[in-house]
Amino acid sequence: MGEITCVGCGPGDPELLTVKAVKSIKNADVIMCPTSKEGKDSIAYSIISTLVDETKKPEIINLVFPMVKDKEILEDTWERNARIIAEVVRTGKNVVYLTVGDPSLYSTWIYVQRELKSKYSDIKINVIPGIVSMFAFASKVGISIAEGNETMAVIPACYDLGRVKETAKNCDTMIFLKDGRYFDQVIALLREAGFPDTSLFAIAQDVGTDQEIVRKLTLGEVTKDTFTTKYFSIMVVKRA
Ligand SMILES: C[S@@+](CC[C@H](N)C(=O)[O-])C[C@H]1O[C@@H](n2cnc3c(N)ncnc32)[C@H](O)[C@@H]1O
Repeated sequence: MGEITCVGCGPGDPELLTVKAVKSIKNADVIMCPTSKEGKDSIAYSIISTLVDETKKPEIINLVFPMVKDKEILEDTWERNARIIAEVVRTGKNVVYLTVGDPSLYSTWIYVQRELKSKYSDIKINVIPGIVSMFAFASKVGISIAEGNETMAVIPACYDLGRVKETAKNCDTMIFLKDGRYFDQVIALLREAGFPDTSLFAIAQDVGTDQEIVRKLTLGEVTKDTFTTKYFSIMVVKRA
């Protein structure tokens, strides 16, 4: 019986993988790569492609996870992809599943793992953590995410932002992930929640890649041009 190892690939720089992650990738017979559309390259694979042992010629399988919110489509997707994985693992191969950043934060792996555990419980699962994009971002900008008694909240901005104001009232650091196109919608809410104009505001896209853009300013300096429209964006607002 083979096994599956989910590898956290970090935010984008192939040097930001753990030694364990690199070893797993080099030993893989099969590499499973999540992608959002048929024929679209996997971002996770693009991070680790230079680390693959070409002499081993691992099979690369793209698994499509459409970016939709329809529960039925999502459940079918998780079921189908878990079945594909289980079939390959049961042939005795060493299978690696890639994920951007860390597997436990807004990752396709979370759903795949749940399916595997409930329907294919004979399969051995390993998970190798990765560097989370927001922490790579904090290092780049040179800020702390939380210190002393400060609290932090992580918000996926592409969902209902109704809870942002209440959360912000009780929080020192607000971190927004999942889609820069929605980031501008929360600024007024943060001000209403008591974030002063002197609060630190940092925003980035494509951290750890050649396209990286990183900006640090204050909340009061933010204009509509400050925002990014990319899905791979992070925004951190820290109460002054
Ligand atoms: C589906 S979540 C995956 C999070 C990932 N598991 C992690 O640990 O960071 C995708 C979101 O993570 C953030 N993200 C991940 N990698 C990023 C990067 N290199 N640059 C900017 N944002 C990134 C973006 O907010 C993006 O919309």
